[in-house]
Amino acid sequence: MSSKPRVWLTRKLSDNTQARALRDYDVILNTEDTLSSSEDIVRMSGEVDAIIPCHSELFDAATVAKLDSRLKIVANHSVGVDHCDLPALKAKGVCVTNTPDVLSDATAEIAMLLLLGAARRAAEGDAMVRSGQWDSWSPAFMVGTQVTGKRLGIIGMGRVGQVMARRARGFDMEVHYHSRNQLDAGVEQGATYHSSLQSLLGVSDFLSLHCPATESTTGIIDEVALSQLPDGAILINTARGALVNEAALLSAIESGKLAAAGLDCFETEPGGNNKFNQHANIFMLPHIGSATFETRDAMGFRALDNLDAFFAGKTPRDRLV
Ligand code: DGY
Repeated sequence: MSSKPRVWLTRKLSDNTQARALRDYDVILNTEDTLSSSEDIVRMSGEVDAIIPCHSELFDAATVAKLDSRLKIVANHSVGVDHCDLPALKAKGVCVTNTPDVLSDATAEIAMLLLLGAARRAAEGDAMVRSGQWDSWSPAFMVGTQVTGKRLGIIGMGRVGQVMARRARGFDMEVHYHSRNQLDAGVEQGATYHSSLQSLLGVSDFLSLHCPATESTTGIIDEVALSQLPDGAILINTARGALVNEAALLSAIESGKLAAAGLDCFETEPGGNNKFNQHANIFMLPHIGSATFETRDAMGFRALDNLDAFFAGKTPRDRLV
């Protein structure tokens, strides 16, 4: 029997992450990369000391209540932890960590891609050329919304929001934000703080979501919020599907209130919302904000750093509870 802690990697992680995990721990891999049910999680909690899950594994109150006492740490391979009931895990004495910082650049890249793609109709154009349906050109053809010089509203000026602001400045966008607290001037870099969401919405030609999904942010973009945006605004979501009321978003697209939307996150994942499919001005990606080779390694290593610290008797750098 191995003296190393036993660790379950719930999904297929990067080759480098799996190699390091196999070197340092007694590892159970998910070579088929299948999704795990609550029953799987409960069963595995009796067989391992640690789990490295992704945001696809749900540690809700009902699951946590049944976890075996062998499980000591849930070292998430994600920055978002809305899939974890943190108070329940804390009450159960399970340490929980996440992987902040390392995915900010990659996620902001996808936010910028969605912003540009939604504004300039990238998916429509690609589909037209690819399908052989590009048979004319005129000045009125495939006209979109210009990005340069427009106002970008950011909800949640944390790590990803700040990188997004930097990228947007490269397009001469005027950055505005709403966050729990105003940032220091050095971090703000000239961005305008709005203490109220309504005030931010009123100036946001583009609105990009970068806050976590919590009780207070769930459904933050609803019918009322969308009505407060300027006509022809564009919504970008690389954070979590739960932030947006999708029925309200659909109405805003159908009425023309929103010119377009760029979405990497949906209420239902995987899958998305098939009501969006008929709207070419909704540019969609399958939750790939952090999906770069570099970032997957960095996320895996950060999760393993947290495990290493925990099993060395230290406080993991990214301990949440
Ligand atoms: C995160 O880390 O929260 C990303 O959404 C990928 O899981």
